[in-house]
Amino acid sequence: MKLVLLGPPGAGKGTQAAMLVEKFGIPQISTGDMLRAAVKAQTPMGLKAKECMDSGALVSDEIVVGIVRDRLQEDDCKGGFILDGFPRTVPQADALKEVLIELGKDLDSVISLEVNTDALVERLTGRRTCGACGKGYHLKFDPPGADGKCSACGGDLVHRDDDKEETIRNRMDVYRQQTAPLEDYYRKEGLLKAIDGMQEISAVQEQIVTVLQAG
Ligand code: AP5
Ligand code: ZN
Repeated sequence: MKLVLLGPPGAGKGTQAAMLVEKFGIPQISTGDMLRAAVKAQTPMGLKAKECMDSGALVSDEIVVGIVRDRLQEDDCKGGFILDGFPRTVPQADALKEVLIELGKDLDSVISLEVNTDALVERLTGRRTCGACGKGYHLKFDPPGADGKCSACGGDLVHRDDDKEETIRNRMDVYRQQTAPLEDYYRKEGLLKAIDGMQEISAVQEQIVTVLQAG
């Protein structure tokens, strides 16, 4: 299964991708996670990306297309993959099409998670992530244990730098201007499947699985 998860910041792409990895045994390819790892490791690419990410702007198409192109060629992507947070611009979607043609692959579906702005802000301000294993939580909707630590590994939870309200608003504007046109792009290709992302996490998951199994 070769999927793209599309949706505004906080729509639940990462949360749903992690569950789909378990269910279908295919890797999650999150450009946001890969860029954050590069920032942490202070690689030349990470140093370039950091300023854009801190302000909520997009990193250049050239950088992200390069990392996705390399990642898709790895062995674990042979049986499928879940792209989370990529593509985010029309040039990225065009580049993905070319890379997939080179690899002799086709996308099966583009899942679009639909969530209103107030809910997105609430989700992002309450989001916490384990600094050690990366597991995601929400203080209200998906809380950690009573000790406030990661239930999987006991690690400390962190609040992402770009989850401050002002940066969140910026990321939403960027989504509306640069990424929302992809909904039409993939609708025209007959790949777009819209999902009501306002439901509980498990209900969203069920709806995605139902839509994917219907083909
Ligand atoms: P990225 O990391 O991709 O951030 P994003 O798209 O803004 O998405 P998020 O990770 O914020 O949200 P999500 O949809 O995954 O939500 P989550 O599941 O965590 O990108 C960060 C930055 O990197 C960008 O701003 C850009 O600078 C750069 N970048 C990345 N990709 C790029 C690209 N392709 N091109 C250029 N630049 C790029 O859920 C959020 C919270 O809500 C969690 O706490 C979760 O527990 C909770 N939650 C989830 N679902 C539900 C539900 N159904 N009900 C209640 N709570 C829920
Ligand atoms: Zn952890």
